[in-house]
Amino acid sequence: PAAPQTAGNSRDAFTSSFGVLAATLGSAVGLGNIWKFPYVTGANGGASFLVVYVLATLLVGLPVMIAEIMLGRKAKADAVTTLRTLAPAGQPWWLIGGFGVIAAFLIMSFYSEVAAWVFAYVFKALRGDILSSDPAVTSAAFGALISDPLQSLLWQWAVLLMIGGILLMGVAKGIEAVTKKLMPVLFLLLLVICARSLMLPGAMAGLSFLFTPDWSKITGEVVLVAMGLAFFKLSIGMGTMMTYGSYFRDDQNVPATTLRVMSADLFVSMLAGIAIFPAVFSFGFKPEAGPSLLFITIPAVFASMPMGHLFMVLFFVLAAVAATGAMLSILEVPVSVMAGRLGVSRKKATLVNLLLLALIGATCALSNSLLADVKPFGMTFFDLFDYISSYILMPLGGIFICLFVAWVWGKHNMAAALSNDGRLANGKVVAGLYVLLKFVTPLLILLVMLKGLGLL
Ligand code: PHE
Repeated sequence: PAAPQTAGNSRDAFTSSFGVLAATLGSAVGLGNIWKFPYVTGANGGASFLVVYVLATLLVGLPVMIAEIMLGRKAKADAVTTLRTLAPAGQPWWLIGGFGVIAAFLIMSFYSEVAAWVFAYVFKALRGDILSSDPAVTSAAFGALISDPLQSLLWQWAVLLMIGGILLMGVAKGIEAVTKKLMPVLFLLLLVICARSLMLPGAMAGLSFLFTPDWSKITGEVVLVAMGLAFFKLSIGMGTMMTYGSYFRDDQNVPATTLRVMSADLFVSMLAGIAIFPAVFSFGFKPEAGPSLLFITIPAVFASMPMGHLFMVLFFVLAAVAATGAMLSILEVPVSVMAGRLGVSRKKATLVNLLLLALIGATCALSNSLLADVKPFGMTFFDLFDYISSYILMPLGGIFICLFVAWVWGKHNMAAALSNDGRLANGKVVAGLYVLLKFVTPLLILLVMLKGLGLL
């Protein structure tokens, strides 16, 4: 049954503490860890990039994530309504939610296409189609998939249908139930693959790439890439965490849960790095392959190792599992806004958004075939949507969330909203968070953006 999206007892929400954790972690952990993190780290210098990324996660990611979840839980509504209710009348802070909806569409458009390749690869891996230790062969196989408009579109639509199906079941019975089952599977698979990778001869070279910094690689642009990754990874700056926060229980400790999700997400990225780089180095491949690392290099790596067929299947199943939890949370932003603002049922909102996405997402599905030569701002739609969301929309969203909480909403509201037992939250936590949100985080985001985009 469609849940009314109004504050009140009947509103659909997460039902258990573990469910909150699984769903939130399910949103954070995704292709960001398994596809983006390894190739971005590989292309930007390894360990030194990692250090900047961890700093961005702590100084920018963590405070913004706590702020978003706190706001959502306070208002118990979709991202637009949340800011409308909490902001003084007449002030347009709800636009943060509005831009969040736009960002969600852009992200989902390219994300669902990468997920489409992953799902296609599960089947290809099962059939042994991509089992070759020659990167020229795996590269040709990947090229054949992404340049085939029909395959690209159909896999994307299949992915969208699956995600829509889960969302239709609702927040507790859909999102929470599914992520509760998927997250443990994900950790198990990742640990198995890590162990396999570390047992390879020459694994140390990969580890030292991941853990020995080369500071000469750090430029303004690289710092922006690291910060963009932190936003993307933690699903912040575009309404997802606000929306999920609205499904949090009132007795849930928000800062502690956020810290746990952030740490677990970093841990998964590390594990993904440990699973991938030793194997890449062990078989003499280059870590700088870029976005295709996962689809060209990794199959070749697996094909070169004993029992590689089995592990390749496991690896792509893992990626598919991770992508699913994340996509649920991206699409939940527009679905909840539409249901909340227009008063339509959750079912209708899901269907309408799916249809819209099938259309907008097609631009990304066709970015390597029919639309390969259409390049607004010099990028394909796929690259453009990725760029605008990670380097512009999410950081801007982050800045405005900080400004709203610290300068408009204020410290006292924060202390009350962060509480999980009716009393004001721990004074030190509130004070620290307040200083970060008021000055440090927004200034950092702004500086990194200006420098990284070449405006400073
Ligand atoms: N955090 C997800 C990942 O790492 C991606 C995501 C971005 C999810 C924005 C929701 C919102 O894959």
